[in-house]
Amino acid sequence: MAKELIRLRDCTMVFDDDVVLNKINLSIKDNEFLTLLGPSGCGKTTTLRIIGGFVKPTSGDVFFNGVRINDVPPHKRTVNTVFQKYALFPHLDVYENIAFGLRINRHEGRRLSKDEIHSRVMEMLEIVSLKGFEHRDVTSLSGGQQQRVAIARALVNRPKVLLLDEPLGALDLRLRKDMQIELKRIQEATGITFVYVTHDQEEALSMSDTVVVMDGGVIQQIGTPEDIYNEPVNAFVADFIGESNIVDGIMIEDGVVEIFGKKFACLDAGFAPNEPVDVVIRPEDVDIVDIKDGMLTGTVTNVTFKGVHYDVIVDFKGFKWLIQTTDYCPVNSRIGIKIDPDGIHVMHKSQYSGMFGDYSSYSAEYEEISDAELGPEETVSEDKLYEA
Ligand SMILES: Nc1ncnc2c1ncn2[C@@H]1O[C@H](COP(=O)(O)OP(=O)(O)OP(=O)(O)O)[C@@H](O)[C@H]1O
Ligand SMILES: [Mg+2]
Repeated sequence: MAKELIRLRDCTMVFDDDVVLNKINLSIKDNEFLTLLGPSGCGKTTTLRIIGGFVKPTSGDVFFNGVRINDVPPHKRTVNTVFQKYALFPHLDVYENIAFGLRINRHEGRRLSKDEIHSRVMEMLEIVSLKGFEHRDVTSLSGGQQQRVAIARALVNRPKVLLLDEPLGALDLRLRKDMQIELKRIQEATGITFVYVTHDQEEALSMSDTVVVMDGGVIQQIGTPEDIYNEPVNAFVADFIGESNIVDGIMIEDGVVEIFGKKFACLDAGFAPNEPVDVVIRPEDVDIVDIKDGMLTGTVTNVTFKGVHYDVIVDFKGFKWLIQTTDYCPVNSRIGIKIDPDGIHVMHKSQYSGMFGDYSSYSAEYEEISDAELGPEETVSEDKLYEA
């Protein structure tokens, strides 16, 4: 793997007595596509601003190629930023928007010639697939095209690192998906390190080499998209990434976990004997079988057709699971379930235990929707709805 480019060591950020980043340690490699992922307010933008040099950490150090850069101002860092609200120059065409930084800045101590500027702008237009657009008015472009101009403008100075703060946030879903593929392609074509911020887990999983999951100013987990999805370290990560049933369990011994009083084979090991644990079971890893063959039996309380599969809510002793299956099972039917050992993931208890992974409220949402379809004589009063 490539060498380390950026390191944050014990970076803490305090605003008005609020600790918004708490001892962040992060290593970013050359050519890496790294994504900071987490809910609103968890400290993603603050981390990006520390890397860009727009704020200094209250304590801790920032290194670039092994050199401490805490006191280096943003314009002296070989870093460029693309924000969600990218401000293109409306009075300049596509070509001049991209050429702007090349014209005003010195590059390796000298001004670039007209020919050099031209070849760099044309190269960028090629990379962002906007060849032929050079003399278009930027205000006449679609949102996705404007975003690509903003990216070209940031890349044309050949930064070592591009910081992107929710750059696709303003685009509609379809365009977002296209631009995700486009951005990944641009990153691979240029070999520039991308540090990308999003709160969209699907976007993070589909684009990144490395995902950094944050909550409450603390890094919860760093890993490949597969690691984060398959081996979440705690209930927060399991819940934030995809859908998860998270239940209490007891790790009897290596390879055996007890859930609802039944023993299940699993692949996990290294826990204390009889350690209380959180157990993650992804909705797609549960097989619905005949009651007599079931490891557990439950009652179907809701079924929703999702196109590729059904979302089935099943009540096991008052705890509701989400199961995704292509087999139809009617509401109120009794079913059995089977889970293969590799469909079970065991985690240590954490501060997040008990907070996530129960689908009772999920089915309540559906119940509210079906309430809306009741006849007028059956309509629930508004007060009652609010109570629920
Ligand atoms: N300049 C500032 N002064 C005071 N508080 C700040 C400042 N900048 C950020 N904060 C606070 O720090 C916390 C983290 O903010 P940050 O912008 O890093 O979150 P984020 O993860 O980017 O969230 P979002 O997804 O909503 O953009 C928030 O509680 C925010 O209010
Ligand atoms: Mg932000």
